[in-house]
Amino acid sequence: MTASSRAPGKIILSGEHFVVLGAPAVAMAVNLYSKIEVRPSQSGQIEVTADIPLHLVSKADKRPPASEKQELLEPLRLAAKATLDHIESRDRSLHLDASCQIPIGAGLGSSASTTVATISAVAKSRGAKLDRRGIFKLAFIPENYLHGKPSGIDQATCIYGGIIQFRKPSSIKALNVKRPPSILVCDSGVHRSTKALVGSVVKRSQKQIGRFQRHIDEITTISNAVIKALRSEDDLELGLLMNRNHELLRQIGVSTPGLDGLVAEARKAGALGAKLTGAGGGGCIIALVDDDKIRSNVARKLRKKGGTLYNVSLDPKGVE
Ligand code: MEV
Repeated sequence: MTASSRAPGKIILSGEHFVVLGAPAVAMAVNLYSKIEVRPSQSGQIEVTADIPLHLVSKADKRPPASEKQELLEPLRLAAKATLDHIESRDRSLHLDASCQIPIGAGLGSSASTTVATISAVAKSRGAKLDRRGIFKLAFIPENYLHGKPSGIDQATCIYGGIIQFRKPSSIKALNVKRPPSILVCDSGVHRSTKALVGSVVKRSQKQIGRFQRHIDEITTISNAVIKALRSEDDLELGLLMNRNHELLRQIGVSTPGLDGLVAEARKAGALGAKLTGAGGGGCIIALVDDDKIRSNVARKLRKKGGTLYNVSLDPKGVE
């Protein structure tokens, strides 16, 4: 049977990295999508193909596109296999075709989005129904393969959509806000490995226990305050919290001079706050812009600095 599913990408408003160490984080699903189509394969085995727009592959990444592609394909094969195993389907004849609007390796959840859509589409193709908790659990198989020991926040956001508060191992709370924050995403064009970045932060946190505990305490306060600011539509406060969050990420070494430059430029151009989003080391920053004039000013200035801009809005639905 043929089937298809799509899932959104994500941005993290507060708490990346510290969420791996147990702090709460806040994330928002955004309207950049991956789509998975499934049909029977000719070989009778699991086959995966993907249409990855090459302009989304980093300028700075020296690896050939083939390895970039492989990085996307193997987790999808794993996600498909895990789903078939889970629903006890003996029929392995499955061709999976992925297309993805989300830049890869940029902190916007391309891998979580494609794996979540894969799990959903494969289950559908066999007439099986998986609930969101079931998809969340299965998504750890490909996500662990790709990212080492991720917290689960990426797949949770892509599955549930909207804005969520997440805490390891599996606390997912949907946040209903009347007006989602108005966010600009800017991709620095430098792509990097989440696995290596998360691994280095975890290692450092084991050596500097006292210092990291203070950071975790502060991020816990920040994430709680972010939720309050979102509920009360207090953009000024939200901007300040984003700025402070960026500073903590800088202090633990996951920002770069390039990202710091984009963040500073966004603030100078009128953003109420700006921070890196995701694992850092490159990838994207997000800027909070409260009106259209500021939005286009910030976008223009960031583009001048070499960034690629994404005008995102909230995806309310998650995987479907
Ligand atoms: C990546 O989007 C977010 C990190 O916190 C890793 C994770 O939570 O798994 C850096």
